[in-house]
Amino acid sequence: MRNIYSIKKVKKYLNNNKVIAIPTETVYGLAGNAYSDEAVKKIFALKKRPKFNPLIVHYNKLSNLKKDCYIDINFKKLYKKFCPGPLTFVLKKKPSSKLSKYVNKNKKTVAVRFPKHKITQEILKNINFPLAAPSANMFSKLSPVSASDVKEEFKKKIKYIVDGGKSKIGLESTIINLVGKPTILRPGGIEPEKIQKILKKKIKINKNFKKILSPGQLRFHYSPGIPIRLNAKKPKKNEAFIQFKKKSKSYKNYFYLSKRGDIKEAGKKLYTLLRLLKNMKYKSISISKIPNEGLGIAINDRLKRASYK
Ligand code: TXA
Ligand code: MG
Repeated sequence: MRNIYSIKKVKKYLNNNKVIAIPTETVYGLAGNAYSDEAVKKIFALKKRPKFNPLIVHYNKLSNLKKDCYIDINFKKLYKKFCPGPLTFVLKKKPSSKLSKYVNKNKKTVAVRFPKHKITQEILKNINFPLAAPSANMFSKLSPVSASDVKEEFKKKIKYIVDGGKSKIGLESTIINLVGKPTILRPGGIEPEKIQKILKKKIKINKNFKKILSPGQLRFHYSPGIPIRLNAKKPKKNEAFIQFKKKSKSYKNYFYLSKRGDIKEAGKKLYTLLRLLKNMKYKSISISKIPNEGLGIAINDRLKRASYK
């Protein structure tokens, strides 16, 4: 059952540098006051996240973001089209910013976004600071797309989980670096093609698995904890088999991402299905080819990392 969330309690926790889980349209986040060293350190500790991996800061107003970083014409164009929404910008941090140095490990840049979820927008309106929030999973594991996923990840270690229903997109935000030549550091909820259309130029997608541009883009991220075999035509014995769309013939170990082959639906279902198969105690998963365009680029990125040994 969904808990009735109390803005009063949420404010109390956040104002006291506590960490809570919040819903967003992409995935659930583990949120704390981005201006507080204490809160930000707690986030890293809870997630067991390496310190070199910086966090995304969440805002609800452009005027607030401008206190912390510089914006340019590319930002303005993308902001107008996609915000609030699943797009994260890497921008230059202002020296006068009050952001905790732990958010971005003293780097000159900071990753920022405007989440599109009514409850989280309301929370941001009721506090006087932005929220640092990584995905609410233990380091390198599957990201949560519901309050119960968060509970499964952290048990009782989180004081408060705000239940905002299932995440509409189900994949993390697209990260675009706007310091220097615009580059997509992580494909995600906004399709690269749409970004190119707005900026009117070809944007490089960072596919170099070895060179870590976005430090969190480690190869072995997003893992359900069991082996995954990509581009499979059929399953091996005892393997769960995920198909992109539902084929006519089906066995009990056959699953699909979207009945009618809709890429958005597939993206939304991906983490939930991987989590389910792990909980069903399958020892391994095979997965059929996913079209590599639009949201499919983000899905394939996550699968590649999830399958990395
Ligand atoms: O959809 C999302 O973006 C979710 C929700 C909760 O907003 N958050 C999320 O956060 O996915 P996280 O921490 O799981 O991933 C953040 C990514 C990491 O890969 C990190 O390395 C990158 O953002 N990042 C953060 N700051 C950066 C910076 N200054 N430069 C380059 N990459 C950065
Ligand atoms: Mg994450």
